[in-house]
Amino acid sequence: MGKTLAEKILSMNTQLDIRQGEYAVVNIDRILLQDGTAPLAIKRFKEMEFKKLFDGSRVTFYIDHASPSPRQELSNDHLAIKDFARLYGANVSGVGDGICHQIMSEQSLLPGEVLLGADSHTCTGGALCAFSTGMGSTDIATAMGLGKTWMRVPESFKFILKGKFLPGVYPKDLILKIINIVGADGATYKSMEFVGETVENMAVEDRMTISNMAVEAGAKCGLFPSDAVTKEYLKDHGRKSAYGEIQPDDNALYEKTFEINVDELTPMVSMPHTVDNVHSVTNDEVKNTSIQQAFIGSCTNGRIEDLRIASRILKGKKKHPDVRLIVSPASRAVYGRAMEEGILTALFEAGAVIIPPGCGPCIGIHLGVLGDGETCVATSNRNFLGRMGNPNSQIILASPATAAASALTGKLTDPREVF
Ligand code: F3S
Repeated sequence: MGKTLAEKILSMNTQLDIRQGEYAVVNIDRILLQDGTAPLAIKRFKEMEFKKLFDGSRVTFYIDHASPSPRQELSNDHLAIKDFARLYGANVSGVGDGICHQIMSEQSLLPGEVLLGADSHTCTGGALCAFSTGMGSTDIATAMGLGKTWMRVPESFKFILKGKFLPGVYPKDLILKIINIVGADGATYKSMEFVGETVENMAVEDRMTISNMAVEAGAKCGLFPSDAVTKEYLKDHGRKSAYGEIQPDDNALYEKTFEINVDELTPMVSMPHTVDNVHSVTNDEVKNTSIQQAFIGSCTNGRIEDLRIASRILKGKKKHPDVRLIVSPASRAVYGRAMEEGILTALFEAGAVIIPPGCGPCIGIHLGVLGDGETCVATSNRNFLGRMGNPNSQIILASPATAAASALTGKLTDPREVF
């Protein structure tokens, strides 16, 4: 019997013939923590009386959730994180550098690695064929000390993606559709693995949008094979020599297999207050829903191609006067590129507020908290009640194109109507 991607990576990692359902002690290649979860991980690390990190160069703290800090207690958390990192020799990614998952993929992560993150969307790294998964602060603290963790090797779901995206339809629409099919807990603890002709032509950045939301179906990870596209991405990001091809075997055992023709998709939206409450934007029940805010950013859709898509729709036009349009590039590199390409100018002239790279409105700490009764169309990944800081508001998840189109009209809009 062949191996799934999860089995392959974990077998390489442990030098054992690892199979789904087995328990394994896994070596950690990298650990990421963010400013919301790091303080508890640091506390646990100290309580367990670890004297040192397993390898400080492989542990990175990202100050991205409250960045720049909006409150003194969060500022003090940042100070404590930086003190710890200095003392123990870990890395710190500071205010304005961007979102942990974006920077991890841009700068460090490699195919075949195991990445643990004190953040649920660590699964984003599956786009680079790294076994990337989120864990709680106590597990992360233990891994910081030992350089190992234990896990049950997940069973896998296989998604065979066929066809080409039609104009106005994007990988965000695809992952919303997949979550609609699978359900918000339908892939709990599974490895979601994506293959097929669509994947072969899909940029790593687009794969990241899909891997990022694997956890919204409950998955342990969301893996893409490493292939020529991965190789090109690594070359563009200064890591060409670290490429290694990893493909699932044809005769691997999958618990379920799904076939999806992406050319049959329309723009999709996830309506309040669950991610799997998915509808086509053409549906009469949802289209024309009034919005007061559009947010384009986050670890799901704050990359350069996302901003290019929004800019193509908004350039030379003005957002609706009753809509706040908030744009947050996912990293300093994305911000710089968007400046060079004139994207930020186009969005600014359309009426956008450009905020610093970071989590910003997605987590509801600052920079876009909604008012009572307001609705935001957001390119982020969660629309739970209160996620953007106010339990009396609503969040609709959508692609950057749908968010930009809706910012123009003030109501939920099919982007194909405004091209
Ligand atoms: Fe940050 Fe939101 Fe992603 S809080 S890590 S942008 S899910």
